[in-house]
Amino acid sequence: MKMTFSEKMKNFTTSAFNVLNEKKLERQQKGLPVYNFSIGTPDFKPEPHIMQALSQAALDAENYKYAIVDREETFSAVQHWYRSRYGVSLEKREIMSVYGSQEGISRIFLPLCNPGDIVLIPNPGYPIFSIGPALCGATPVCYNLYKKNRFLIDFDDIPEETARKARAIVVSYPANPVCTTADDDFYKRLIAFAEKYNVIVIHDNAYSDIIFDGRIGKSFLSFPGAKEVGVEINSLSKSYNLTGVRVSFVVGNPDIVRQFKILRSQVDYGMFLPVQKLAVAALTGPQESVGRNRAEYQKRRDALCKGLRSVGMDMEDSEGTMFAWGKIPAKYESSEKFTLDLLEKTGVIGVPGSFFGSLGEGYIRFALVLPVPVIEEAVDLIRKTRIF
Ligand SMILES: Cc1ncc(COP(=O)(O)O)c(C=O)c1O
Repeated sequence: MKMTFSEKMKNFTTSAFNVLNEKKLERQQKGLPVYNFSIGTPDFKPEPHIMQALSQAALDAENYKYAIVDREETFSAVQHWYRSRYGVSLEKREIMSVYGSQEGISRIFLPLCNPGDIVLIPNPGYPIFSIGPALCGATPVCYNLYKKNRFLIDFDDIPEETARKARAIVVSYPANPVCTTADDDFYKRLIAFAEKYNVIVIHDNAYSDIIFDGRIGKSFLSFPGAKEVGVEINSLSKSYNLTGVRVSFVVGNPDIVRQFKILRSQVDYGMFLPVQKLAVAALTGPQESVGRNRAEYQKRRDALCKGLRSVGMDMEDSEGTMFAWGKIPAKYESSEKFTLDLLEKTGVIGVPGSFFGSLGEGYIRFALVLPVPVIEEAVDLIRKTRIF
């Protein structure tokens, strides 16, 4: 039988990570060194009290039933987290769990959008921001992030007609892959834009804890009017080194949370109870590791950004996120070609900027997932190639 597939599949190609992974394995099989700066999964370990909470709960046979809903203690932990970390009060009806921000973003447009509704997304931006709306039948339309604006949204650059038609806007600072942060004034402009054009804000706050040089990572919800216009998706993945666990929360506008819960009640039966216990332990337990990891990321940021500038790369210091973002050498026309050449010549693996949208072309992204001495070794190898 000849298989045919849905129009939706046209939105998908094999992830650049798979291609890079194959190249990495080829090198490893030949015994050649590899410096993997591609995927943003922390190399730090989860704290013992977090792992203990999960493992103890996993030994209780009662915890293998459908959870159906979030537990009272899970709500309380999220309320505690938002109050103590961001100074934001949340009601229970403003909180729900999702299986990681990726999963949340891949479905949240189902209750929000009709087929063809416009969702504004960043270019360059994290890929799920375009895939999510497309999967839900909406139409992602890019807003452009330019270096000259510190990669912040220029709201005047969004055509009036597009803004009027838009149903939602996805915003995420500290921003992957461009590594900039947004100030308070930006969030005020965002909320004013949302109110003016009746556009729902989905703020992805994956990196509020990985922010450098004394900056403070805030919540979108800490700004007046935010809860009236949108929700924030916040993840435990990066703050607590739990990428594999898949636990995030959607918080904010109670109407959105209610509709999303109704939808999810038909497609899943709640977050595995031991994972809820783990989340409670992470959010209410000691928080020192968050600051410790942030300090280590900053040392890595310094080693990588300063190191690469010293070999001729056009690159700013990251203001936040666990990444660094810089320009490929002028002699290269394609970031994919540069990434592959760099890998072949040095074993250093980055991600081509084009993976994050058309305006990512000409850039490469590195994840700060290797210790400083290894970063220095990689920078030295790059220096020797004179690739810049
Ligand atoms: C901007 C952004 N949002 C969300 C995620 C994914 O978070 P989660 O592990 O909660 O799905 C990432 C992961 O790299 C990210 O960079």
